[in-house]
Amino acid sequence: MQTWLVTGGAGFIGANFVLAARRLGAARVVNLDLLTYAGHPENLESLKHDRDHEFVHGDIGDEPLVAKLLAEHRPDAIVNFAAESHVDRSILGPQAFIQTNIVGTHALLAGALKHWQGLSAAAQRAFRFLHVSTDEVYGSLGPNDPAFSEDHQYQPNSPYAASKAAADHLVRAYHHTYGLPTLTTNCSNNYGPYQHPEKLIPLMIQNAVAGRPLPVYGDGRQVRDWLYVEDHCDAIRAVLDKGKPAETYNIGGNAEKPNIEIVQTLCRLLDGRFPDKAPHARLVQHVSDRPGHDRRYAINAEKIKRELGWQPAVSFAQGIERTVHWYLDNDAWVKAVSNPDHRDWLEKNYQQQGRGI
Ligand code: NAD
Ligand code: TYD
Repeated sequence: MQTWLVTGGAGFIGANFVLAARRLGAARVVNLDLLTYAGHPENLESLKHDRDHEFVHGDIGDEPLVAKLLAEHRPDAIVNFAAESHVDRSILGPQAFIQTNIVGTHALLAGALKHWQGLSAAAQRAFRFLHVSTDEVYGSLGPNDPAFSEDHQYQPNSPYAASKAAADHLVRAYHHTYGLPTLTTNCSNNYGPYQHPEKLIPLMIQNAVAGRPLPVYGDGRQVRDWLYVEDHCDAIRAVLDKGKPAETYNIGGNAEKPNIEIVQTLCRLLDGRFPDKAPHARLVQHVSDRPGHDRRYAINAEKIKRELGWQPAVSFAQGIERTVHWYLDNDAWVKAVSNPDHRDWLEKNYQQQGRGI
């Protein structure tokens, strides 16, 4: 069985990836996570007795720690999910994004390179550094523009997107200059279990259930492509298994939707579950827009389909229904992750930014 060093594996996508990897017996996992406000050991509760999952509390920017983990576990691959990931937080405080997404990713690359250079030729050929990135590095599309393909120009607009773009460039340079066998994936908006309740879909579910306003930024006509998180995890395993070093792969859900439509869909599903509280859509409140808000993202995922045979298996209708059920059934999880930092955050984002709810 392979060993993977997964970073950020206590966060939303990382935890789903680690849980699936262990469920499928795909690899032994060493899981390095700093447990910021977004990392939750609760996500990994079901692996408590799994001897093939080792959790390590630490920073990807801690070079001696990374060197020690690489020497001790000799992983076949590093999968880098660790990041500051929320655009609104990057607007209020970009520094943490520069630190983890750029400086931290660079430290991880430097550690990986040193380790890789000491491997046998066969082990060097087999090793992979997979960096998980975002479609936001490509900037914003007009309504009729073709979807982002892998050779689309980088035009990041938020501090978050700029920090991810910088990391992508460093990954590219580590292959081009030193030969490190890197892979980069750029995916669209994920949704599903274990997503922090600061992000659109869990936030709207929580607020609607509690009878609180549903804060839609601006006119709510901004378009995102939505990818069910388990499909994303499948795609990453396909890239690890069959992807060509130095290549990048765009991963999408074939589900472009305006935000307001997402909110209305959630309201409809909740009306079905709680008819006495219907219509939940009465809670929708248009609030001041996000500064520099990108209008549209869309992914052309033809390359990964053609070259690696991957395409999403879960439709948006299936995925969103599963997601609503998961949040309703996991109220204890939501309460556990809604720590004081989360309450401070809501206060800052929705009141200090003049969103007035
Ligand atoms: P998340 O914020 O839920 O989780 C990030 C995890 O990284 C947390 O567990 C956190 O504790 C950990 N972390 C943060 N800084 C760290 C550091 N310095 N060292 C070690 N661990 C650290 O994020 P997510 O939504 O799961 O996103 C995972 C990755 O996927 C990110 O790189 C993000 O940019 C990318 N991505 C996310 C989406 C999405 O829709 N969520 C879309 C495209 C790309
Ligand atoms: P988000 O989940 O923050 O992801 P991203 O900004 O990375 O795409 O937001 C998804 C979309 O939803 C984005 O266009 C911003 C919008 N949004 C709202 O309208 N209201 C909210 O309260 C939040 C958190 C997001």
